[in-house]
Amino acid sequence: MTFETDAAGERLPNGERRRWWKEAVVYQVYPRSFADSDGDGVGDIRGIVDRVGHLDDLGVDVVWLNPVYESPQADNGYDIADYRAIDEQYGTMADWEELLDTLHDHDIRLIMDLVVNHTSDEHDWFQNALTSRDADYRDYYVWREGRDAAEVDETYDVGPDGEVPPNDWESFFGGPAWAYHEATGEWYLHLFDRKQPDLNWENPDVRDDVFEMMNWWIEKGIDGFRMDVINLVSKPEGLPSTDPEAGIRTIDRVTNGPRVHEFLGEMRDRVLDRGFLTVGEMIGDPLPVEHARRYVSPGPDGDGLSMLFHFEHVLLDRGERIWETADWDLTDLKAVFDRWQAAFADEGWNSLYLNNHDQPRMVSRFGNDGEYRRESAKLLGTLLHTLRGTPYVYQGEELGMTNYPFESLDDFRDVGTLNPVRTALDRGVVESFDAVKEALRANSRDNARTPVQWSDEEHAGFSDAEPWISVNPNYGEVNAEAERADEDSVYHYYRRLVEFRHENDVVVYGDYDPLTPDHESLWAYTRTLGDERLFVVLNFADEATTYDAPAELVGDATLALGNYDADDGVDETLDLRPWEARVYRAR
Ligand code: NOJ
Repeated sequence: MTFETDAAGERLPNGERRRWWKEAVVYQVYPRSFADSDGDGVGDIRGIVDRVGHLDDLGVDVVWLNPVYESPQADNGYDIADYRAIDEQYGTMADWEELLDTLHDHDIRLIMDLVVNHTSDEHDWFQNALTSRDADYRDYYVWREGRDAAEVDETYDVGPDGEVPPNDWESFFGGPAWAYHEATGEWYLHLFDRKQPDLNWENPDVRDDVFEMMNWWIEKGIDGFRMDVINLVSKPEGLPSTDPEAGIRTIDRVTNGPRVHEFLGEMRDRVLDRGFLTVGEMIGDPLPVEHARRYVSPGPDGDGLSMLFHFEHVLLDRGERIWETADWDLTDLKAVFDRWQAAFADEGWNSLYLNNHDQPRMVSRFGNDGEYRRESAKLLGTLLHTLRGTPYVYQGEELGMTNYPFESLDDFRDVGTLNPVRTALDRGVVESFDAVKEALRANSRDNARTPVQWSDEEHAGFSDAEPWISVNPNYGEVNAEAERADEDSVYHYYRRLVEFRHENDVVVYGDYDPLTPDHESLWAYTRTLGDERLFVVLNFADEATTYDAPAELVGDATLALGNYDADDGVDETLDLRPWEARVYRAR
């Protein structure tokens, strides 16, 4: 393996280092829902191989593949039973190798999902850990004795022997983050589902095994990793309960723990190379910028990840619980992006995403999925592809796919939706499904997981059989075949966005300067690199909006890209149509 150091990249006029992954567009494939080749209703690896042409035409540079490892699928593969085997449902290792080769033949790189905060409870390590308190792999997980129910004033269901869990942490999927194991009389930590026990990174053997496994995949020829909830791996000493009076919630206790940078530094030294694309999923509400900078800093004290995913923009419309929503407006969204653009202005790098397999569809959430579905999907795409950072396109986004009109709890498949809602219904915390229906329609991860709509044939061309989750009823109108046939489609606009990035350094590396932070419906900004400047203006509204642009920007500007037919000329007063996006080359 040849290691690439950070000094390797050429410097741009603003001091930025050239890197292939800064210039890239990443496309995310959620295999379960992408394409089913063998007619069992579940997507698979051969289905992806068959569709590489779609990705190649779109022009993307990298595929991020969600987990395809052997797994009981309690959390659709984020519960891994064997890190070095492909789940039967998805195919074989030979299929995976063919996918890698096919992508590489098309100059598309592949990054794999790395899920090492937890394993499945069906992983051999955990199965061994269950055998006794002295088992070889017992210390691979986080075990503690429970507390005496009589001594704590929490309202848990009291467990065996009058015990309650070791602390009051809540699982991200609702309920206590601990499960009792009767045979050995201790509790194990699971920050997600009870079938996802947390690994104990304090144990150096765990780290050795994880790093060895990563190197094994690297040897197979992959190009990087997307790291699942990687800032959870270091737990605080003593595992203290939350402190509601001080405003300290579970999420504050378990993120960015005391040894997280040490662990990631070890990973950098033993596994990673700056030539890879590494993106850390960093949960936090909010993620402290000083930690964020360290995660992606290439300097000697940095953890050296290429970039990270933070959650600030996708938390704006969320309440505390999945059945709660909050009001947001465009100024909030701009403020989040402006802050993160500034955070990595001198060092570090942003990822840019508005949806993924854990988030509702962006056009339903930030755009208008009715009358202006196409225009707003294109506008949001323009935003993602013209901010400073690496854009991530989630499957179906390039088709303008929308949220699903869920009607009952039976329509959902996601453990992250079903667990908390069922518990809340059982406990009477929520009255009925109807009382939470609208919020679940807005928030559920299943919105993103409905099958990709390839055509207007039965099951949207995703599968010959009934899919594992329903197809969105709008597939007759919204599908890849229709999009490809229409030059004005979201798909063809995305192709232009990708090409625009590939052809213009200013799109990738230019400095970002916001122009309208306080405007209720307009988002305008410039990107500058040497003597090149782009001027972007986006109208986030169902109404026309007028913008008095700075004279020096519009003087000799020419329209480089837009989601409506060009109007005549450019003057200082820009009349923007509903959800209109324009990208000008300014002088
Ligand atoms: C984040 C993943 O993106 C999500 O799908 C999963 O449920 C959790 N991490 C747990 O692995």
